[in-house]
Amino acid sequence: MGRETALLAADRGAHVVVADKDVAAAQAVAAEVQKIGGKEAAIAVAIDIRKRESILQALRETASTYGGLDIIVNTAAVFPSSPDGQITDAQWGLTLDINVTANHRLVEGASKIFREQDLAATVVLVSSANAVVPKRGSEAYDVSKAAVNHLVREFAISLAPKVRVNGISPATVVKGSTMFPRDRVIASLGKYSIPFGQAASDEDLRSLLADFYAERTLTHQPIDPKDCAAAILFLAGPSPVVQPVIYSRWMEAWWRHFFDRLRSSRSQLNCSRVGKRQWSQRKTGRLLSRSIWARRAAV
Ligand SMILES: NC(=O)c1ccc[n+]([C@@H]2O[C@H](COP(=O)([O-])OP(=O)(O)OC[C@H]3O[C@@H](n4cnc5c(N)ncnc54)[C@H](O)[C@@H]3O)[C@@H](O)[C@H]2O)c1
Repeated sequence: MGRETALLAADRGAHVVVADKDVAAAQAVAAEVQKIGGKEAAIAVAIDIRKRESILQALRETASTYGGLDIIVNTAAVFPSSPDGQITDAQWGLTLDINVTANHRLVEGASKIFREQDLAATVVLVSSANAVVPKRGSEAYDVSKAAVNHLVREFAISLAPKVRVNGISPATVVKGSTMFPRDRVIASLGKYSIPFGQAASDEDLRSLLADFYAERTLTHQPIDPKDCAAAILFLAGPSPVVQPVIYSRWMEAWWRHFFDRLRSSRSQLNCSRVGKRQWSQRKTGRLLSRSIWARRAAV
């Protein structure tokens, strides 16, 4: 989801800071972004959002490279799993720390830069449909995401009016996610009584589960991380009409229809005056460096 968001942001002219504790993965995504937006369009930084100093260092690198920070998107989270479905106290603690408290640390760190800039900025945190739909066997994750929903509301109040804070709550997105290791997939297939062969490859098991989840949606289509990226950047964009919201599963069918239409007419996504100008500048190859939106950087 983070990768797709970075690529889509670059496609729209943003400078992107790809930050992950997996530095090699961040560098690979930054290289993909550079192919879209040029050498200066992206940097990769190491970050461990469990550590305040690591967050501050990544923010300092962002500000010193691009001169500021206009958008923060956080997709980092963990889903604790184990072969027998039982998780330890340590896993509970880790889940709440990464999925909830780290979001607080990150946005709190960024808000100092936002205050100094005194410019409009946006934050998008990623929650989950599980925040409102309880499921057997994922209590720690579900509770953490319910807390993220409320954290979005808290930040929306405390950072208003200059900074808009929103969240998205996707349903299951198997494609491209590292959150579906074999043991979790097998536990889920077992939970839903879906027959599978023990010798099946990881990829075959993941597709089996993805097909099952797709059938449960109103559209019977698997959710693509590109859909989530489009929703994230819609909320991160300059539209002043978007007030704090958490888009959740019940809107899934509507969103899919909406994004299909947006994909076929990309200019609608650049619907602000600044966005349109930026898009036409990209088209004509003119420099963007003087525009505020050209300084956009997503962590
Ligand atoms: N995939 C799904 O089915 C699904 C459904 C609903 C919500 N979500 C949420 O969407 C977001 C993105 O999910 P995804 O499937 O892209 O996940 P992913 O596992 O593919 O990516 C998460 C990234 O977070 C990074 N990360 C983990 N701990 C970190 C830390 N301490 N510091 C820095 N980086 C760290 C990982 O290295 C990884 O690159 C998550 O918040 C997830 O909870 C996912």
